[in-house]
Amino acid sequence: MPGEHVPVGIHDLTFTTTSLQLTHTELARHTGVPTAKYHQGIGQRAMSIPAPDEDIVTMAAHAAAAVVDRHGADRIRTLLFATETSIDQAKAGGLYVHSLLGLPPHLRVVELKQACYGATAALQFATALVHRDPDQQVLVLASDIARYDPGSPGEPTQGAAAAAFLVSAHPALLEIHPSSGLFTREVMDFWRPNYRTTALVDGRASVNAYLDALTGAWNDHQARGGAPIQKIHTICYHQPFTRMAHKAHHHLLQHAGLPAGPQDIAAALAPTTAYNEQLGNSYTASLYIALAALLDSDTPLDGETVGLFSYGSGSVAEFLTATIRPGYRQHLRTDAHRVAVTHRRPVTYEAYRTLHTTTLPTDGSTHATPTRTPGPYRLAGIDGHRRRYEATTSAPGPVTAPSGPPQ
Ligand code: CAA
Repeated sequence: MPGEHVPVGIHDLTFTTTSLQLTHTELARHTGVPTAKYHQGIGQRAMSIPAPDEDIVTMAAHAAAAVVDRHGADRIRTLLFATETSIDQAKAGGLYVHSLLGLPPHLRVVELKQACYGATAALQFATALVHRDPDQQVLVLASDIARYDPGSPGEPTQGAAAAAFLVSAHPALLEIHPSSGLFTREVMDFWRPNYRTTALVDGRASVNAYLDALTGAWNDHQARGGAPIQKIHTICYHQPFTRMAHKAHHHLLQHAGLPAGPQDIAAALAPTTAYNEQLGNSYTASLYIALAALLDSDTPLDGETVGLFSYGSGSVAEFLTATIRPGYRQHLRTDAHRVAVTHRRPVTYEAYRTLHTTTLPTDGSTHATPTRTPGPYRLAGIDGHRRRYEATTSAPGPVTAPSGPPQ
């Protein structure tokens, strides 16, 4: 009906991660850093490490398959793949996912980049597309592997994961509000030139840039009639390390003139950090994994307003709010999420270092990766500069395995 309010938002949300993990206890044994600095100082317990045949595509395909399995692909007209650890300068990683899942040809597939903010841009573009045609759905994938140089301050904040969410009219999980706050400023806090496999970062500057962007985006949100802080039940922050969310919440409460005691902050944020403190930084996926953790927690949220703060170094930030839909719990994937986190195999520090230094050939020569992942999709190898992906025996049906190297 003309003029009828059509709620648009996240209809389904899931994530997956790698099959290996390095605990911070094991890392501390080799760096000589007190474990308490990792556990309390940065708020991290473990970090996901990809096996040789796992990458951003295999993780994203795994997460996407669960969504497509539940909802089908008939209404999906757009697939947005957000990443800042892209595998190709030209081709969208989502095309490999499209092939692995056997998705129909009549949809657009695009990759988006602006550091960790990319998936939030995708969410906003998706809501606009769905408002234009509420019959359509948009599949958003956010997949990243965070790698820093061994021995650098960023090393304990590495991690990897992929989130997948379906943006739809009349969503089952949460309705995105139209008002949002934006903040953009060019700053060299974190970047990765095309010739590097690990990121460069000015750690202190990045923390300050994040906090400045938070107040900048919040002020814009308020100026545009966004919900006051007293009306927001819980805020999910981008979590490069979970202690960053504590710093952010403290900063925002002080900015809003509210009390900001450490124990209250810890209690307010605990439901949002449970997964990321085990996975590490997953860049574009991190905020949506914080949201998954909140939804999966014991906190009852029906009808509540939640805040989402997205920060992408460089920098672009956005503060948005959403209403949790009544009955959302029936649509969660809590068991699968807990399995993804707890079933990772711990690796030794030596094994982690070997994996960290192992890279695919860059000269077009043929390389077959060993079969290691228990997941449904794997990177089989590379030859002639072409990555070859394949479904494994644990892939859900119906799946179309590519018959040769993706073109
Ligand atoms: N017990 C408990 N706590 C301890 C401790 C101990 N034994 N020893 C130290 N600590 C505490 C410190 O007091 C400090 O706490 P505060 O931050 O509250 O002061 C904390 O541990 C960290 O210690 P340092 O200040 O010594 O910092 P560091 O040299 O270890 O580096 C970092 C921290 C700069 C954030 C580094 O991890 C880094 O460079 N990370 C990568 C960049 C990053 O994640 N930036 C975040 C904002 S940018 C962003 O969000 C985008 C993105 O995803 C990258």
